[in-house]
Amino acid sequence: MKSYLILFAQAHPNFRIAELDALAELVNVKLDLSQHDETRPYLEVQLPDDDSARRLISRAVLTRGIYELWGQGATYEELHASIKETSAERFDVYKKCSFKFTFESFKGSRDHKSQVKTIESFSYLDFEGPINLKAPDETFTVLEEYEVSGQDKADQPKQLWFGRLIQLSERVRNGLVERYDLKKRKYIGTTSFDAELSLVTCNLAHVLPDQIVYDPFAGTGSFLVAAAGYGALTIGSDIDGRTLSGNGSKRNVRFNFKDYGTLTNFIDVITMDFTHNALRKNFQIDSIICDPPYGVREGLRVLGAKNEEKAAGREHNIVDGTIAHLRRDFMHPKKPYELSSLLDDLLSFASDRLPVGGRLAFWMPTANDDFKVTLIPQHKCLELLYNLEQDFNKWSRRLLVYVKRDESYIGETRSGLKEMNIRNFRERYFHGFSENSR
Ligand SMILES: C[S@@+](CC[C@H](N)C(=O)[O-])C[C@H]1O[C@@H](n2cnc3c(N)ncnc32)[C@H](O)[C@@H]1O
Repeated sequence: MKSYLILFAQAHPNFRIAELDALAELVNVKLDLSQHDETRPYLEVQLPDDDSARRLISRAVLTRGIYELWGQGATYEELHASIKETSAERFDVYKKCSFKFTFESFKGSRDHKSQVKTIESFSYLDFEGPINLKAPDETFTVLEEYEVSGQDKADQPKQLWFGRLIQLSERVRNGLVERYDLKKRKYIGTTSFDAELSLVTCNLAHVLPDQIVYDPFAGTGSFLVAAAGYGALTIGSDIDGRTLSGNGSKRNVRFNFKDYGTLTNFIDVITMDFTHNALRKNFQIDSIICDPPYGVREGLRVLGAKNEEKAAGREHNIVDGTIAHLRRDFMHPKKPYELSSLLDDLLSFASDRLPVGGRLAFWMPTANDDFKVTLIPQHKCLELLYNLEQDFNKWSRRLLVYVKRDESYIGETRSGLKEMNIRNFRERYFHGFSENSR
């Protein structure tokens, strides 16, 4: 095993470890992440080799890169001593290659002059190869962490590392997060989901090239385009056909795929009530990712009539000589439904349709003042792997990730949200989340 240093992005620190854990399983690498501290962007890990490090970090969204660790210390003297002690045999390996030096500084910075002076202090490495700033064979990086007390910025770092760059993530190499940024996307709506977290959701759900990803509440297709970006074949459905088709405008879900150059990863989107699902039983789905409707920006409705008796009376209505509900322009009646029941349906669908090892990842809203883990729905065939919280102060949305297990797994089926129904969350969202408002 060798020591590596992971450099995280400054975003969603409480999702980092779950993402790396999920990617480690995906690329079959064992990883101890127990030393992670959410307040710091650096984490030392042990990995078998550079190839494992590359595979682990390449598609990570919340990580910037990974470095082969050559040394560390609280001062530059300590850092140099550590490099000489632990990495002296490496100096010769890179003697002739082209190289450059870079800096990564957290809570502090260095001006150019001071960087040059620092680089000169590494002259004992005795590299003879040419410096190449554009496309070097190797990049050596000084990683610094400063301490900030109040308004005062420290002029010397409190911790230092030195490493050889092994892999930058796609976030840094290809600007992955900016590419999918909603501000640049041509077709979006009020329910479009943040690009960065859509990509993270895909990583946690183990979305893979050529596998089928289904979003049952596709809306403007945020999860589908992210999954297609990872090479998956994507299919979506939504009860509101206008959201899928762009309501008469040229822009729609399909248009976004065209724009991202992933049209071949677009199977289709279907206007369909999830609770009356028309996907044939043997249609293979490898992962399900979604943001179910919770009634704040969009209605949670299913096919059916509020008043069944009244509806039965209209069953034989004739319009222009045809029974009304057999006409192509018939608008099906819809009735409100509870989020708790919809989530039960979702878990049950996932348990029926996913292969063993297949993942379901969805977002669920919760009020922070009365959250209990027992609110999280469970299904006897699905193991809950991650429960990650994006906190909006009084309420949160939680990313819940489950994996389908085989018959030997004995889980519990629990409709957690029954006590916090859709009306309740919607009411509380609009009228306040204080303790007494329930
Ligand atoms: C939170 S939004 C998801 C938005 C989507 N992630 C996007 O990128 O735009 C929930 C979606 O569920 C749809 N929906 C509501 N009830 C539904 C049902 N019974 N079956 C299928 N879709 C439904 C709504 O029309 C809405 O588009």
